[in-house]
Amino acid sequence: MKAILILLWVPLSVFGWSNTSDLEWGATGHRVVGELAAQRISKRTAKKIDALLEGVSLAETSTFADEIKSDKRYRAYSPWHYANIKGDETYALSKKNEKGDIVRAIKQCIEVLKNPTADRSDKQFYLKLLVHFVGDIHQPMHLGKLSDRGGNDVEVKWFGRNSNLHRLWDSDMIDDYGMSYTEITVNLPKVKKSELKKIASAPLITWVNESHDLAKQIYATLPENTNLGYRYRYDHFNSVRMQLLKGGIRLAALLDEIFK
Ligand code: ADE
Ligand code: ZN
Ligand code: ZN
Repeated sequence: MKAILILLWVPLSVFGWSNTSDLEWGATGHRVVGELAAQRISKRTAKKIDALLEGVSLAETSTFADEIKSDKRYRAYSPWHYANIKGDETYALSKKNEKGDIVRAIKQCIEVLKNPTADRSDKQFYLKLLVHFVGDIHQPMHLGKLSDRGGNDVEVKWFGRNSNLHRLWDSDMIDDYGMSYTEITVNLPKVKKSELKKIASAPLITWVNESHDLAKQIYATLPENTNLGYRYRYDHFNSVRMQLLKGGIRLAALLDEIFK
């Protein structure tokens, strides 16, 4: 019996170590942002996007930028998923990664999508990236510290399993909650219309600063005992849900603006 358990444990534990590395907001978080945006865009925008994505939904498209990461041809886009900020600098005043970052990535996507002479295939590609990056920029640890690669180097345990602070916010907290992306979308925080308007009209630099401020709070409130679980999720899950809500609302507003 013992031998069987050991035989089972070895492959499972190796699998558990490697299977979730480098996912972003996890697939679920990205799909929530895509789904909420799809529910909020105008009919006119929806028609144009439907044509460009050939009927693939925003939720499904939202994970494309992660799916191409293992393909060498797309390696140049890897730094586009985040911006790590040194010490107590702000993004605006920080030294920029010459290989690009999430803020310049979003600007580039918007530029291509607004360019009347851009190829249709380029527009399709950059739309897929945009849907993903608007999700990532709302994951606070994508605007975390340079010294630990946005929390990737901060080891923690999540319900006893090896994880890190970045992955906790990408996927652990969301996936262990056990809701599908559609269930999470339905159950996002209810906010007043006036608040929704404020969220939708905030400029890109506000998205960045909000995420970076949240990241600073996350570092500052990391418990000394980093064996995390229910208590950590209880303290932080509302923040996750609020960021997903903001991501979806802002993506919808941005798409309406691009395709008006
Ligand atoms: N790789 C290096 N820094 C990262 C970050 N902040 N988010 C995701 N991947 C990263
Ligand atoms: Zn991530
Ligand atoms: Zn990403």
